[in-house]
Formats: sequence, C-alpha cells, structure tokens
Amino acid sequence: MSAVNKEYKRITTKSLVEMKANGEKISMLTAYDFTMAKIVDRAGIDIILVGDSASNVMAGHETTLPITLDQMIYHASSVVRGIERCLVVVDLPFGSYQGNSRKALDTSIQIMKESGGHSVKMEGGEEIAESISRVLTAGIPVMGHLGLTPQSIYKFGSYTVRAKEEDEADKLKKDAKLLEELGCFALVLEKVPSKLAEEVAKSLTIPVIGIGAGGGVDGQVLVTHDMLGMTHEFNPRFLRRYLDLYVEMGDAFKQYISDVKTGDFPNKNEQY
Ligand code: KIV
Repeated sequence: MSAVNKEYKRITTKSLVEMKANGEKISMLTAYDFTMAKIVDRAGIDIILVGDSASNVMAGHETTLPITLDQMIYHASSVVRGIERCLVVVDLPFGSYQGNSRKALDTSIQIMKESGGHSVKMEGGEEIAESISRVLTAGIPVMGHLGLTPQSIYKFGSYTVRAKEEDEADKLKKDAKLLEELGCFALVLEKVPSKLAEEVAKSLTIPVIGIGAGGGVDGQVLVTHDMLGMTHEFNPRFLRRYLDLYVEMGDAFKQYISDVKTGDFPNKNEQY
C-alpha cells in the first residue's frame, strides 16, 4: 500500500514543508556512492543524506570526526550523479563550521559548487546560530540536527539517549524553535525520548525527521548500511533491519570463492 499523497517529480525543501502540512511522512536514507544513491533514489526516497557517518561505515573510523571536507565532497558528488528525484543533503564535517561563521559559509559554498548537493546539515543549536544564519544568507538551505549529535561524542561520553533530563529537554525545545526561526528547512532529531520528539514536531511547521526518536515525528532516517544489515555489530533498539546483507553477501562471496577454486566458474557460457 502506498502512503504517498502527492506525486512529486523532484523533491525540494518546499515539497518537504508541504508534505508535513499534508500529513505525509518523509523518508530519508543515507548514501555515499553513485550505485547506492541510484538504487535508493529510484526506489522513491524523499531525501538522501550524504552523512558524515561515511566516516564510520565507509572508512571504518570509530567516530564521525576524522572525515574531511574533500572526502565529503567526493561522496556527495558521487551521490548527486546517481539521483534524479530526491533532495540531497550533505553533512558539514566536524571542524568546518563550529565557532567560525565565515568558515561555515566558505565550506557550504564549496560543497554546493563542487558536489552539486542541494543543501547542508549542521549539528547543534544556539552555539552555531551565527554559522547557520550566515550560510542561509548565501541561499543555501540548511537542515538542523539536535539530540544525539555524533560530532560531540567526546562531550557526551557515550551514544546513549539524550534529553531525558528536564534541563536538556528544555534546551532542545528552545534550540528547535531557534532553528526554525533562523530559517532551517528541516531538523533531524537523533536518539531522544519519543514524547519529547513528538512535542517538538508538533510545535514546529518545518519537518522533524527522527532517528531513534519514535513515530510521532514527520519522517524517519536510517543509515542505509544499517537497515540493510551490512553493519552486523551495530544493534540499537531503534534499528529495523530490512535485509541481512552481512550474511547474504558473505554467502555469495563464499560461493564465488568455491566456484573459482573448483573451476566451476567460468563455465562455457561465461566466456568468449
Ligand atoms: O551522518 C549521518 O548518517 C547522520 C544520520 C544518523 C542522521 O547524521
């Protein structure tokens, strides 16, 4: 059954706000390369996030901190070449926007020019308000990101649920309102209690996309490698696995190795 209310030829920031107003949920997944982006786009996804989670799933780093601007541009431009319909959001990497709004603007312009992405995402609230405002002055759409913000992992100390205490929840609500007022077109809320996420979503006109934030928000995002079951060791409660590709791919590789070793591959029809 389709839950799509209106067919959009191309998803824009305006379509997303319209979807929220019409009660249509927004779907978002990550991609970091051409082939995956093409499959995800043709399946009908609304937003592809070129997340700095590429640092974990593509490069094998423990955190998102090491990925560079050039690496993000490489991933984002590969994704943009694969898509026809969805909106592409590109994460600003750690250190490229915090505490320096001029740098935030330069980074965002470079991403837009060199990758062809459609918008950028930044982690944080009040602390990065100046950077967000400055990027918006260049006509670059900005998606916010609150709750568990992985670029601040060394401040948090762990990847546990955020804003369970009243003071952190109050700050999050204030930050969400501020991001809307500044002009962000949408907001990611990561790993926060579902009641709080729903309250935030209801208080804003811009869409709130959740990851580990329950079903009361305006859309959902997952890391594609996680929902496909490629990252076997990562098992948070919020993750729904749609495939078990770690096992399926492993089986295919084992079969190929065996076919090569036994001489079964290539057969007569698989050669010239
Ligand atoms: O980098 C990323 O993949 C993200 C999502 C988890 C929202 O920021």
